Amino acid sequence: MAQDTSTLVLGIETTCDETAAAVVERLADGSGRILSNIVRSQIDEHAPFGGVVPEIAARAHVDMLDGIIAAAMKEAGVDFSQLSGVAAAAGPGLIGGVIVGLTTAKAIAMVHATPLIAVNHLEAHALTPRLTAALAFPYCLFLASGGHTQIVAVLGVGDYVRLGTTVDDAVGEAFDKVAKMLGLPYPGGPQVERAAQNGDPTRFTFPRPMLGRPDANFSLSGLKTAVRNEAQRLMPLEPQDLDDLCASFQAAVLESVADRIAVGLKLFREQFGAPHALVAAGGVAANLAIRNALQDVATKAQTTLIVPPPQLCTDNGAMIAWAGAERLALGLVDQMDAPPRARWKLDQDAATPAELLNTRARH
Ligand code: KG4
Ligand code: ZN
Repeated sequence: MAQDTSTLVLGIETTCDETAAAVVERLADGSGRILSNIVRSQIDEHAPFGGVVPEIAARAHVDMLDGIIAAAMKEAGVDFSQLSGVAAAAGPGLIGGVIVGLTTAKAIAMVHATPLIAVNHLEAHALTPRLTAALAFPYCLFLASGGHTQIVAVLGVGDYVRLGTTVDDAVGEAFDKVAKMLGLPYPGGPQVERAAQNGDPTRFTFPRPMLGRPDANFSLSGLKTAVRNEAQRLMPLEPQDLDDLCASFQAAVLESVADRIAVGLKLFREQFGAPHALVAAGGVAANLAIRNALQDVATKAQTTLIVPPPQLCTDNGAMIAWAGAERLALGLVDQMDAPPRARWKLDQDAATPAELLNTRARH
């Protein structure tokens, strides 16, 4: 049953290393309002290991989630009985954390007799721009996080066509790996961006992966290896070397990403007509240099760039609550047997990176 009244949804995010909960209101006109959005990062717990440790993440979610939910409800001034639904990210992600969040949401749904919405974390990134901007379907999404890099035609809620993806590393993963090899702390993206601001982007000419290819796919691992080789050649690194390596790496990423998205927009137009906007989401969209590069691509393609504010680009509960509210408005609710999923494609029928590689090999 579709709903045309305003709704209040609690959203829970536990797929990686943020424990997050938020309450979002979706108004009858389709616009959204964030009533609370509490994110508790586990960076300190994982930093000594240089990356996210699944067992530590799951345990920290168990310890923190109840308190975070209580804080989000209190800040929103909302009682559980007022909720129109409770949404949890049911994947893709680290399965221990996903189980913690989804089970908690099921318990709340059962006790308070409110609908459960099992949200795909990637769908939440894809729909978040509609929470902060009046954005109609269809639009072209560049989704870039630590685990995913995709160009997606967003045609409607639950209606996604993947136009391109990475054949190896995700963009955020490449930032994290480069940071690690240069001795910068986890998570690497913001660290590399900061170092790049003081560096010379022309000192090293790193490869621009996939440049000029007619498909809209990405590849980052060759670039990452080139940075590693250069860093090893320069060891021990002076601070200026580190800044220049970061700046030159980021410059290569920018050029490759801009080229890939320009092709993605072209493919979008051929298949679906003009998009209402180019939209960036996921943690990498918090990078200002990448935002600027995307702005140029959008201008050249005569479309508008929409990027949610940085705190809504990285993982948070409001994006899960909002995706839940969008699904709820269409009557798309889940049952108590909704499974937690380590892997969950946004578009079930899309080719896998391995299939894409085979396609490449045949060219
Ligand atoms: O969406 P997100 O918070 O979590 C995932 O679902 O992965 O994205 C985290 C990723 C990490 O790889 C992080 O290094 C990257 O986004 N990231 C950045 C920046 N801020 C976060 N990458 C480049 N520049 C940034 N400023
Ligand atoms: Zn994410």
